[in-house]
Amino acid sequence: QTSFVGHNFLTLRDFNKHDIEQLLWTAADLKERIKNNGEVYQPLIGKAAALIFEKRSTRTRMSSETGFAALGGHPAFLTQNDIHLGVNESLSDTAKVLSGFVDIILARVYRHDDLITLTQQASVPIVNGLSEIYHPLQSLADMLTLQEHYGSLSGLTLAWVGDGNNIIHSIMMAAPRLGINLKIATPKGYEIFPEVMADTVKFAKEANTDIFVTNDPLEACQNANIVVTDTWISMGQEEEKAERLKAFKGYQVTKKMTDVMDKDWTFLHCLPRKPEEVDDEVFYSKNSLIWPEAENRKWTVMAVLLSLLTDHVHKTSKPIF
Ligand code: CP
Ligand code: NVA
Repeated sequence: QTSFVGHNFLTLRDFNKHDIEQLLWTAADLKERIKNNGEVYQPLIGKAAALIFEKRSTRTRMSSETGFAALGGHPAFLTQNDIHLGVNESLSDTAKVLSGFVDIILARVYRHDDLITLTQQASVPIVNGLSEIYHPLQSLADMLTLQEHYGSLSGLTLAWVGDGNNIIHSIMMAAPRLGINLKIATPKGYEIFPEVMADTVKFAKEANTDIFVTNDPLEACQNANIVVTDTWISMGQEEEKAERLKAFKGYQVTKKMTDVMDKDWTFLHCLPRKPEEVDDEVFYSKNSLIWPEAENRKWTVMAVLLSLLTDHVHKTSKPIF
């Protein structure tokens, strides 16, 4: 077992296959013990967390706030309307002050570079609660949801139909190393960041998985097990709305796409969802895993926060990946 105590969690790029599996195992262990067996497990009594949100959040905020408290810790939710950050006080001064109060900081930021500044200026672990490049907490929840549904991950094919954004970037850091093949459709001009693609190609080669990139959603969905999408307009891109709606024409996930997939296809979406990227028929279908996916945000963020603060001892056996 690897110790993650004192590490940062900015991107799954920094974690290998074994590490990702261990974090997912911890999430599954917490879920089984706390949710299914009613165990009261509070190894974080006396610990405090600062949860900084520069953008809105339902899932990340609630999963981290309730999850950290369930483990016995005290979470403090902070927005720029509450604290001096960005108005009267710099990020680095804030990081130094918060380090005196809390044991860990989770931050949702506009600029990934600000997370790096936090790691340099704070003396406690930093967790990425979403940046413009990555959303690693989301892809951990996605992987746990697929593992629960399919019983294992290796050999599955995941299709992405949408923007080359933080959500698919994080899936790309996790999926190939867990044996999942990727088929990615993005509109012209909204492709995966080149440096993220370069890392993914390397990971896929090492794991002997396939990556296929196209501008045609149907081609991406062909024979895939899972289709995933996200909003076409991420937080901070609101003024690009008109041109994005035009560029993403033909990218709405509908039955036409799921019809060319494996007959036991499933659907994931990080949420919040707008109808333009996926119609109701797919979004609310019995093949859609969106509600367990959202719930798994809690067990996975608990696993991350716990693992950065203490070495967790598993009581359940390791799932098959
Ligand atoms: N999926 C996700 O991160 O949702 P929130 O924006 O509600 O946190
Ligand atoms: N891509 C979206 C994800 C929201 C959870 C955004 O960054 O706004």
